Amino acid sequence: MLLDEPTTNLDTEHIERLEKDLRRWIESIVIVSHDRDFLDALCNKIWEVENGTVVEYKGNYSNYEEARALKIRQQESDYDHYVKKKKELERAIELKKKKAARATKNPNKKTDSDAKQMGTKPYFAKKQKKLDATANAIKTRMEQLHKVDKVDEVPPLKMNIVKADELGNRVIIRVNELTGKIKERLLWKPTTFHIRAGTKLAILGGNGTGKTTFIKNLCARVEGINVSNAVKIGYFSQNIDVLDETKTIIENVQQTSSQVEALIRTVLARLQFFGEDVYKPVQLLSGGERVKTAFAKIFLSDINTLVLDEPSNFLDVFAIKELESLLKEYQGTVIFVSHDRRFIHHIATQLLIIKNEEMELFDGNFSMYQQQMTSKKTSNHSERLLILETEITEIISRLSIQPDSKLEERLQQLLWEKKGLQKDK
Ligand SMILES: Nc1ncnc2c1ncn2[C@@H]1O[C@H](COP(=O)(O)OP(=O)(O)O)[C@@H](O)[C@H]1O
Ligand SMILES: [Mg+2]
Repeated sequence: MLLDEPTTNLDTEHIERLEKDLRRWIESIVIVSHDRDFLDALCNKIWEVENGTVVEYKGNYSNYEEARALKIRQQESDYDHYVKKKKELERAIELKKKKAARATKNPNKKTDSDAKQMGTKPYFAKKQKKLDATANAIKTRMEQLHKVDKVDEVPPLKMNIVKADELGNRVIIRVNELTGKIKERLLWKPTTFHIRAGTKLAILGGNGTGKTTFIKNLCARVEGINVSNAVKIGYFSQNIDVLDETKTIIENVQQTSSQVEALIRTVLARLQFFGEDVYKPVQLLSGGERVKTAFAKIFLSDINTLVLDEPSNFLDVFAIKELESLLKEYQGTVIFVSHDRRFIHHIATQLLIIKNEEMELFDGNFSMYQQQMTSKKTSNHSERLLILETEITEIISRLSIQPDSKLEERLQQLLWEKKGLQKDK
């Protein structure tokens, strides 16, 4: 089976179901995906396409990541070695050249016996030729020296956000008896909770449960949502029309940022826009690069609360990882929607879950939530098993007294369900 970005528009529940089905039913799969957990669950071989070649790695995504990190460390040490060797050879050439130059000059000493015999001119010409040859040999060696590219470095983020002191870790958003409604349709029943400054809140919920609706309610500060005056929201909806096509990447960012150029360049470098790249006009950028530019523009504008609606959907694995590390280091508040489990896992400190028309704040991270879900499932499981067993025993004892086709049928049904439950465990 060939799958091209199968998880992109699925919610977490459907991604997990797909994962399970694929693992169970399909022998050979070729997947294009940016979902790291999905790749980890399914793959035993990774093909990386880079600079026009395909490199194969054994194992799943995590194995690939390890192998790649090792390769980068190797490249770093190769680069250091290359620079050192290059300097040595350059110095050697310089030295030989100087010697050769000196050799052409008439010698002071007339005592050299060779010189006496041959006459000074041919002797020095020969000597110079030899020195030139050595210099050339070193030059060739230098040319043969395998050029190793420098590994791009990622500088850490040191960024001041607006009104940081005023915010501290105070409650900045109060949701009070808020109902989610689109026309007459209920999305979630009245809900009450609050969010503190510095929280990294992931909004979880299936497709169409009302995540975007909640974010829009928040940005519009509808009735039932109280937002502190110190809060400055930056809303990223993948709406890249915040960008001016004719201007460069850095101009676009600078238009709305009061941060110093050094920091702007740091953030752009973290998003893989190095050196001269930042002078590219937006109209020449690829889809993913535009998304990154739009993100950088919002991230660096004068805000302290980032609201992101599915930011990772159109980014590749490397960009997702960069985004992840920037959001982790960010001192402000982040409220985001994502279906990428690893992304949620790495960033979120709290979760807002929309399920069965209820919206609930979960005060814990994603692994705590997953743990709770599993234990709930197992306890539901054992409960159901107990009920089944009781009913089965009862039916068997009744059937032993008097045969009954309807009861017989019911018994088969129960036994089948019990078998299924035991297999799932
Ligand atoms: N303007 C609208 N008119 C009618 N239905 C809408 C409108 N906006 C959203 N909806 C519906 O409301 C539900 C929730 O939408 P949304 O908040 O975008 O969900 P999601 O959780 O996927 O972000 C969906 O079923 C969507 O089709
Ligand atoms: Mg949405």
